[in-house]
Amino acid sequence: MPIGNIVILGCGGYIGSHLLDRLLREPGNKIFGWDLEHRKIEHHLGNPALNFEESNIGSTYARQRLEEQVASADVVINLAAICNPAEYNTEPLRVLDANLFDLQPVLRMCAEQRKWLIHFSTSEIYGRTISSYLPDESFDDPDLYVLKEDETPLIMGPIRNQRWTYAAAKQVVERLVYAYHRERGMPFTVIRPLNFFGPRMDYLPGHDGDGVPRVLASFMAALIDRKPLQLVDGGWARRTIVSIDDAMDAVMAVLQQPERSQNQFFNVGNPDNEVTVRELAELMRTVYAEITDDKTYLEHPIHDVSAADFYGAGYEDCDRRMPSIEKAKALLGWTPRKSLRTTLQETMRAYHETYVVQAAASGAPAEATGPAVSSEEAR
Ligand SMILES: NC(=O)c1ccc[n+]([C@@H]2O[C@H](COP(=O)([O-])OP(=O)(O)OC[C@H]3O[C@@H](n4cnc5c(N)ncnc54)[C@H](O)[C@@H]3O)[C@@H](O)[C@H]2O)c1
Repeated sequence: MPIGNIVILGCGGYIGSHLLDRLLREPGNKIFGWDLEHRKIEHHLGNPALNFEESNIGSTYARQRLEEQVASADVVINLAAICNPAEYNTEPLRVLDANLFDLQPVLRMCAEQRKWLIHFSTSEIYGRTISSYLPDESFDDPDLYVLKEDETPLIMGPIRNQRWTYAAAKQVVERLVYAYHRERGMPFTVIRPLNFFGPRMDYLPGHDGDGVPRVLASFMAALIDRKPLQLVDGGWARRTIVSIDDAMDAVMAVLQQPERSQNQFFNVGNPDNEVTVRELAELMRTVYAEITDDKTYLEHPIHDVSAADFYGAGYEDCDRRMPSIEKAKALLGWTPRKSLRTTLQETMRAYHETYVVQAAASGAPAEATGPAVSSEEAR
């Protein structure tokens, strides 16, 4: 069933590209998409159902155009963000602008026109768990670490730890969204993603970008380039990984059931796929040994590095992100299905295909090829 007219901010990013794949499959949807770049959605640019604007949503031009588009929209989806941990403490002003101030005019437009806003937030708004502040840091009591949308307190570190700029900006946006709902009647849905893994996440440094991408792409680049995997602070932090396919099922369930999804906050993650980052590194080298049929990857070096050396001063990690997904199950009828191993196999095969096989077939060095249809995230 088509959704109708959909405005998507940040449609050219990782999640946006997968969402377009789903929405443009369905005749009857008309997308007004915005992003600063288009490499990941090149395969959709000729589609008449997509009206793509390569422009900053914070510009005067964009605000004028968006007024008209929001007026005709059935739903507005916000994915635009700077969401790379390497930038939270190194470029805090950019992070606060992109994740908070640039969005405020759009929130106001949705509120004035009472349009349904689906906002992609983050599990980072929960900050650290209560367990992590207890003397023994134990995880004996789920009430002290399982993240529940409408109950769990949000605990962030001190202001000098600038790593929390992203989480703080996202939390204020959630508070704005909720205030616009309560005071102005704006319908909303907030999605809190927990480590969506799949093709097209980020870029591989030295191949099609520079810098430090999220953990999946960082580990993938290290494997492909035969460099050590860098494990920050011993890799003790725990994450749950959900396949991008399962995650997109959840988003479609939100879109197709407004009567059940509106005015709710949802965790979208897979509690069955929990790993420490160290375990993730070890599993990724095992899976890559299978994909490449190269047993030397089983012993691929993993090096420890401090957070201060890797991310710079002011970094602090969320210790554990174990979501409750009971709300999504009960209201949306959604349950994630793919195991961690399957998710890694599919994702890493896609990276390998793009950055190794296709690069070799084109005769070009890997760094000359685009990311177009493969890669992915974490942290
Ligand atoms: N991928 C995950 O697992 C994950 C986890 C937690 C939260 N999220 C949230 O989901 C959303 C999408 O994440 P993603 O992984 O696709 O990130 P992404 O970085 O791949 O995509 C974000 C897109 O927003 C665009 N953008 C940023 N500022 C813009 C601006 N001013 N104007 C126009 N476009 C702009 C970027 O160019 C980028 O393509 C973000 O809000 C992110 O915080 C994602």
